[in-house]
Amino acid sequence: MILALIPISYLMMPHFQASERNIYDELLEADIAEALSAYSGDGKSEKGAIGFILAADVYVYIGDLDETFATSFAALSPGGLFAFTVERLDDVAESARLLEASPVSEAPVSQEDYDKGWKLRFTGRFAHSRPYIEGLAKKYGFEIVVHENIVPRRDNGVDIQGHLVILQKHSEGPR
Ligand SMILES: C[S@@+](CC[C@H](N)C(=O)[O-])C[C@H]1O[C@@H](n2cnc3c(N)ncnc32)[C@H](O)[C@@H]1O
Repeated sequence: MILALIPISYLMMPHFQASERNIYDELLEADIAEALSAYSGDGKSEKGAIGFILAADVYVYIGDLDETFATSFAALSPGGLFAFTVERLDDVAESARLLEASPVSEAPVSQEDYDKGWKLRFTGRFAHSRPYIEGLAKKYGFEIVVHENIVPRRDNGVDIQGHLVILQKHSEGPR
């Protein structure tokens, strides 16, 4: 088994290279979609060579997750797990309700944002809706094993609402 870590930024490398944290067989400084493409056919490894992909607090920096799902599906072996956290994009009514009680001044979610499934927030991070994640899981042939509301991070003492998602590959191609 090989344990690999893919941070996109070289600034993170010294952090992970420090001996007490370097538990990895490979440290790849690359975009996650590009790095995973190497595992999905014509790259250095066999198609579907990966058993487990974990991206905690990473897809908050990516809006449209279609390519991420496509490359992750292709890189996983059958039965492989794809686990990640994202910030939660609430529907229009729930977003307006939560903003009323929030100290943060942010534009409410519009119906257009919600229908698209993701939105760039004032923090510079993206939030994703539950139906958007479910739609991509279905499109690429993932089974939803876990989809829970969680607090993936606290910013300046404020809980950030998000989802924990664990998907399992159970077929051999996009549907
Ligand atoms: C907030 S940190 C989370 C790091 C770690 N998962 C944790 O929970 O401590 C976000 C990480 O995502 C990485 N990242 C963001 N976009 C990426 C991309 N397109 N490809 C690879 N890594 C990316 C950044 O380099 C950074 O290391």
